[in-house]
Amino acid sequence: MIAMTAGIRPRDELARDAGLAVASGRGGIAVDDALRTTDPAIYAIGECASHKGVVYGLVAPGFRMAETLAAIFAGRPSRFRGYTPAVRLRFAGIEVWSLGDHAPPGTRVRWRGNGSHRQITLWGRRVIAAVAVGPWEEIGFAQNSIRHGYPLSPEQVHQFYRTGTFSRRTTRSPVSQWPESAIVCNCLEITQGALSSARAEGCSSVEALAARTGASTICGSCRPLLAELIDDTSSAAASKGRAGLVLAAAVAVALVLAIAGGAPLPPATSVQKIVA
Ligand SMILES: Cc1cc2nc3c(=O)[nH]c(=O)nc-3n(C[C@H](O)[C@H](O)[C@H](O)COP(=O)(O)OP(=O)(O)OC[C@H]3O[C@@H](n4cnc5c(N)ncnc54)[C@H](O)[C@@H]3O)c2cc1C
Ligand code: FES
Repeated sequence: MIAMTAGIRPRDELARDAGLAVASGRGGIAVDDALRTTDPAIYAIGECASHKGVVYGLVAPGFRMAETLAAIFAGRPSRFRGYTPAVRLRFAGIEVWSLGDHAPPGTRVRWRGNGSHRQITLWGRRVIAAVAVGPWEEIGFAQNSIRHGYPLSPEQVHQFYRTGTFSRRTTRSPVSQWPESAIVCNCLEITQGALSSARAEGCSSVEALAARTGASTICGSCRPLLAELIDDTSSAAASKGRAGLVLAAAVAVALVLAIAGGAPLPPATSVQKIVA
């Protein structure tokens, strides 16, 4: 296999010609936390912008910048504070992940086995970065740990070193049981909670979830997780409905038995009159 990494270079020539400051090196239109360029009347977002010297080559930070700028234009206080990189790609059927900032030294813990390579970087007990090639059921856990700064216990670190997993579970829990804050669509940072809400509001197919939330519309690798959520919640709803039907049937049978086994009901007086 030949891996070619070309990187990205912002198209900032228009800004250069207009006299706006651009970042040194790779370039990109220099913006502050309000996404304002060196001309206070001009803003820049997305891959052409360089925030604190960083040009993001991903969709999600562009959306965060767009949200920030929309809020500022609407008169609400908002700032872009940077973005913790999370890249998920699929090459020739192999999943490749890179999460967090790999620049700080930290302590690297690696595991290899079953056709997978996993590495976490620890700063104290916190995971600050992770990289993985091949399937990793707990990648969502790793991503949440990086994003929220959850510390790992010494047992979890040891477990990861020995087995490549943080817990003794060998299979991941279904998407429907993930915490609401867990990210399902990495590209757009769409959480389990947002997808579950859309599902509860009537989105009953992957396409409907995608149309409502945007999940699966960039790289598409989260599509199986969306399908799983639809299946899980459909079968849960079906079994909930089944439980109601079983209860109603049981009540009906009990009523029939009570009527059959009890004293005969006296006919209504109107009926007696007709019979007489
Ligand atoms: C092959 C490939 C795969 C990728 N896969 C992923 C992925 O899986 N997940 C992910 O998150 N990201 C991925 N990316 C990155 C993602 O596409 C970019 O981060 C995103 O498109 C940036 O959005 P943007 O709107 O800032 O810029 P762009 O999408 O590049 O849009 C900029 C637009 O401005 C136009 N333009 C430039 N100069 C001028 C000018 N002077 N006048 C008028 N128009 C101009 C350009 O033609 C272009 O249409 C991938 C990128 C590539 C190339
Ligand atoms: S993870 Fe890329 S579209 Fe959802």
